[in-house]
Amino acid sequence: MTTIPTKRKSTKPSHHRHRRKLIPVTTQATRKKAAASATSTVPIPARFKKSSQETARLIRRFHVLNKELAKCRAAGDTARETDICAEMQEMGGLDWYQKASTLGQNPSLTEIPLSRHQDILPFRLLDVGALLPTNYAAYSSWIRATPIDLNPQHPEIRKQDFLKMAPPAGDGERFDVVCLSLVVNFVGDPVDRGEMLRHPRSFLHPSTVITPRPSPRLLYLVLPLPCVTNSRYMSHEHLLAMMRSLGYVRCIRHHHSTKLAYYLFEWSGAAGSGRGIEWRKKVLEGREGGGRNNFCVVVKSD
Ligand SMILES: C[S@@+](CC[C@H](N)C(=O)[O-])C[C@H]1O[C@@H](n2cnc3c(N)ncnc32)[C@H](O)[C@@H]1O
Repeated sequence: MTTIPTKRKSTKPSHHRHRRKLIPVTTQATRKKAAASATSTVPIPARFKKSSQETARLIRRFHVLNKELAKCRAAGDTARETDICAEMQEMGGLDWYQKASTLGQNPSLTEIPLSRHQDILPFRLLDVGALLPTNYAAYSSWIRATPIDLNPQHPEIRKQDFLKMAPPAGDGERFDVVCLSLVVNFVGDPVDRGEMLRHPRSFLHPSTVITPRPSPRLLYLVLPLPCVTNSRYMSHEHLLAMMRSLGYVRCIRHHHSTKLAYYLFEWSGAAGSGRGIEWRKKVLEGREGGGRNNFCVVVKSD
């Protein structure tokens, strides 16, 4: 049986190999640079705390700031935006965040059976938000991975904003699977998250095109588990319904580990799937009250 490897990651960073120290200094210049772009890569050396708990705390703080930043930008609150950008830059910016996240990556792999697709060579995979170019190296005999990221940490990762990425021009350049591992939750704006889920369909094989080999149309999605188990606005069932409405007609498999939620969806291949579909921000029944997080995906009608 042929399998597609999927990364199982620990969110607990282990950073024993990195002990560089940095004394954080906030200057006027830092603030100005930060205001230019919070997630840019101003060359401030990344700092890694000795305690993995502290690094994990800073990663969580970065997520919070990133979401707040999206809100401020939408609301045009430039003063708060400048402060948030400055705090992110003090932490080391996106560059620090990515390095810290890489350290937390656990190279052990879990496998999702894909026996139907065993004859597909090479299997073309678009790895969106790739911290390493080698995520699928162990499977290079049958997986050809194209890693992209906003801020590549390696020369073999293409610098590309997925939301602005033009769909493949030719059928031969389409992918068999698009991988969104811990990327959707990283995006701060709920509408952009919806776009992140819609956009992969343009990179997969539409059913109208006859391809010389079987063409699966898969979306591999990984989210932090609390995004589906403890959000006011999102649940496992809500996600499945949303994905179905967007044309991901089948959830081939899902798996919830202690920290992460893994999903493998199949897109129908129908070009107009999901047209006119809208999902608003709405507290789900049974998810009212405190102690919940605000992870939310909004889909705007196209
Ligand atoms: C938490 S890391 C996840 C990395 C890796 N995929 C994993 O599973 O560990 C999120 C990554 O997504 C990238 N990212 C966020 N939005 C993106 C976009 N629109 N296009 C490409 N990469 C994006 C960020 O730059 C960051 O490196």
